Amino acid sequence: MRNGLEDVIAAETQLSDVDGEAGRLIIRGVSLDRLVADCSYERVTALLLDGLMERNFDEALLRDWLAQARTKVFDHLKAADAALLALPVDALRALLARLPDGDDFDTALSLLAAPAVFLPAILRLQRGQTPIAPDASLPQAADILRMLTGQLPTQEQTAALDTYLVTISDHGLNASTFASRVIASTQAGLTSSVLAALSALKGPLHGGAPGPVLDMLDAVGTPDNAGRWLAEALDRGERLMGFGHRIYRVRDPRADALKGALKPLIASGQVDSARGALAEAVETAALAILRARKPNRPLDVNVEFYTALLLEALGFPRQAFTGVFAIGRTVGWLAHAREQALDGRLIRPRSVYIGPLPAAA
Ligand code: ACO
Repeated sequence: MRNGLEDVIAAETQLSDVDGEAGRLIIRGVSLDRLVADCSYERVTALLLDGLMERNFDEALLRDWLAQARTKVFDHLKAADAALLALPVDALRALLARLPDGDDFDTALSLLAAPAVFLPAILRLQRGQTPIAPDASLPQAADILRMLTGQLPTQEQTAALDTYLVTISDHGLNASTFASRVIASTQAGLTSSVLAALSALKGPLHGGAPGPVLDMLDAVGTPDNAGRWLAEALDRGERLMGFGHRIYRVRDPRADALKGALKPLIASGQVDSARGALAEAVETAALAILRARKPNRPLDVNVEFYTALLLEALGFPRQAFTGVFAIGRTVGWLAHAREQALDGRLIRPRSVYIGPLPAAA
């Protein structure tokens, strides 16, 4: 048995399928490239939750309800205190824990709205600025950026964040989603499931990688230094952040969706093209060196590499990247929690005891 449970099937799901050999992601029957081309965050949210909640709804209804939910959860920030000025993801966890638990649609709506409202507010509070109240006339992606900066985002910025939220909405039985399903299987509420999932997400082997991707780019400094810096990092036994994946043996399809979302920002001069050129040089050098050093283990770009560039370009500080990931992934956690709860089986695997046996009497 392998300790990471690889190749163990732990759930049947209608939500998403990750084909690691083909590099393909399907969400509710739609391939990622179609979703990114056609779908808003609100639409993919409606798609993922369809049939799993006690109410029927469509994209337009959900957009209104989500906007109202953002306004409602903003009230929780009145009680934000100094203890919240920790790491953004920990502050997010502390604030989310204040939401009532439950398994109904209103709880789900609050959980979809809360990270979108709380994260920009936490970042503003940390800078000594006042949180900005939501604007119910805006879609979620535009409102997040407005609550962060106080200004209406450009069309390219809104589209880039929307693509990011769609791209990361769900991804099979990753560690945080599994945590969400385990909690749901005990019939605890959706808030408990989301809190467990967020706690799993923050680790650097899961959703905590994109900040370190930027640290790596900064340390590399210039494109011509990439090969040497990466070789020395591997010599020190370090892992290259933003590369490798438990399931994908080829390029993570989400990496290209996000690289594509960055292009209009670069083309319109809203992102420094030198940053993009440095990232491409690091990507090329990393792939070459990983192929040479680990010939038996296909290692390619994962979602976090271009996430880092995209979120930096949108003005999020690197310590907040895991929190932005949580804004997008909450719908996946909720959909899986509901699917698990409706199926009704308690998740209770067994372990193999390998310790000493009691001495014979
Ligand atoms: N850089 C260098 N070597 C690597 C990397 C990497 N990024 N990833 C894996 N390897 C090597 C390991 O050192 C190991 O080599 P060895 O067999 O010679 O000892 C081999 O590849 C297999 O590694 P495992 O740890 O068994 O692979 P696993 O499937 O558990 O790893 C993981 C997946 C954790 C994502 C890994 O690739 C990694 O640490 N990547 C860097 C961190 C990162 O980018 N995380 C974000 C993942 S995406 C997400 O969760 C949203």
